[in-house]
Amino acid sequence: MDLNGKTIVITGGARGLGGAMAARLASEGAKLALVDLDEAALLERTAACVELGSADARSYVANVAKEAEVEGLFDRIAADFGALDGLVNNAGITRDAMLLKYKDGQQVQKMSIEQWQAVIDVNLTGVFLCGREAAAKMIELGSKGCIVNISSISRAGNMGQTNYSAAKAGVQAMAVVWAKELARYGIRAAAIAPGFIGTEMVMSMKPEAREKIEGMIPARRVGDPDEIARAVQFIFENDYFSGRCIDVDGALRL
Ligand code: CAA
Repeated sequence: MDLNGKTIVITGGARGLGGAMAARLASEGAKLALVDLDEAALLERTAACVELGSADARSYVANVAKEAEVEGLFDRIAADFGALDGLVNNAGITRDAMLLKYKDGQQVQKMSIEQWQAVIDVNLTGVFLCGREAAAKMIELGSKGCIVNISSISRAGNMGQTNYSAAKAGVQAMAVVWAKELARYGIRAAAIAPGFIGTEMVMSMKPEAREKIEGMIPARRVGDPDEIARAVQFIFENDYFSGRCIDVDGALRL
């Protein structure tokens, strides 16, 4: 796919990894539909994308975890652009906690159902809903589109992330399922598993935990958000890449 003039949706597109993806795809001339809950940051990023070369960049405030909102979102995007060529399922949150904590034989803490559900709703259900609605629009518009699910190195199982690891393993598997199911329509699907990247999400980790993990990265640094955006660009541009996951983690392996 040549990104110039193509319509790409990025969820969580206002900041962090999604913001870096928006900037990179804008400079390739893509038209962008940026989706986020943070309206102020979204408007700022959208304006920046136009300056960087996006032919058309629009903001959409929507909660990816709500079915009716996601259905309405993709209806509006298809009507506004008259096309849909790509989706990056990037929106995600963390609610880290140990599964259980015991002190002197007494349980002192456990991951709450709220912590579990919040992450599953956004990071797993949100990806399912956006992927389903994007694929429907691509089929209806006759677009040979591509869906990229942002997984994580945590999909292998990261301490403190029962909820997040389960969701990120799920979105990688969904990319494989969709690549197989949607190939008959000419639609591709793939995943990217970032390691620890210098975004607010990683930088707001407990300092001891962050330092411990940073010390284990063979590349001896956290990644740059644009290094993930480059992987997104590669997947869109390579028409034979489908059903697989690219790890971009500085050689850290959990
Ligand atoms: N690796 C190694 N050890 C870890 C660990 C990890 N990822 N997470 C926790 N531990 C260890 C702690 O060092 C501690 O060990 P000791 O008992 O020997 O001291 C033990 O597990 C309990 O941890 P805490 O004392 O920190 O427990 P807490 O209840 O205060 O905090 C926590 C729990 C919030 C989960 C905290 O441990 C934490 O932040 N861990 C890191 C979780 C993590 O890696 N999150 C990644 C966020 S970034 C992201 O998700 C983006 C992405 O895609 C990679």
